[in-house]
Amino acid sequence: MASSSRAFVLRNTRLRPVPGLEEIRLHLADEVLPLWHAVEVETGDTDAPLPYWAFAWAGGLALGRYLREHPEAVAGRRIFDLASGSGLCAIAAMHVGATAAIGADIDPFAAAAIDLNADANGHRVGVVRRDVLDEEPPDVDVILAGDCWYEAGLAERVLPWLLRCRDRGLEVLIGDPGRRYLPTAELVELASYDVRTTTELEDLERKQGWVYALRPGAEGTGTGGALRS
Ligand SMILES: C[S@@+](CC[C@H](N)C(=O)[O-])C[C@H]1O[C@@H](n2cnc3c(N)ncnc32)[C@H](O)[C@@H]1O
Repeated sequence: MASSSRAFVLRNTRLRPVPGLEEIRLHLADEVLPLWHAVEVETGDTDAPLPYWAFAWAGGLALGRYLREHPEAVAGRRIFDLASGSGLCAIAAMHVGATAAIGADIDPFAAAAIDLNADANGHRVGVVRRDVLDEEPPDVDVILAGDCWYEAGLAERVLPWLLRCRDRGLEVLIGDPGRRYLPTAELVELASYDVRTTTELEDLERKQGWVYALRPGAEGTGTGGALRS
């Protein structure tokens, strides 16, 4: 499955610079519906998830821009990129000096895409191909969460897990274009960017993408580095 997933990603995408983050190249698709159909045919699963991994999402694009502007947020640190998709945030972190990065995603094609994309950018990114949201926080320094609040079921589980990570002293950085389920009351805005996405995915080609930290917990943990100016 792993090697056929890689071949599928290569067959259905083109390696190209990421808009607004041209120093990073990803295997990206132009159109979502034909690719989604191809995934259904390839897997024999008519309920196959959208091929998120073939696009750079607005939340990840904003987070990538933030890391380029604030390399100190991840430089010299170990990164865990939750809901990694293409691996964009993990790769952006490695690009500005993270010492290690892991991308976690439940989609087997995402696992292949993360690996191929990391390679294309000259980085190594570990891949976790399972749902970690009921697990203990990973042994890393920073959690990146790009565009995780697009559906209710996932949204409900992401925040409690990120709060657990924060309470263990991990830093948490979130990128999001203001999706419906974003828990804004729990967040502190750090920056916003005009990002170029695609009308294949969004209502507009340009979106505003915000970067947030989690509000400090009772012990004031989890936002120290990100909020340092
Ligand atoms: C909108 S995409 C964001 C991808 C990337 N972070 C970006 O900003 O470009 C959301 C990703 O979350 C993944 N996902 C959904 N549920 C997940 C879970 N429980 N654990 C990890 N990843 C999950 C999907 O497979 C998809 O790749």
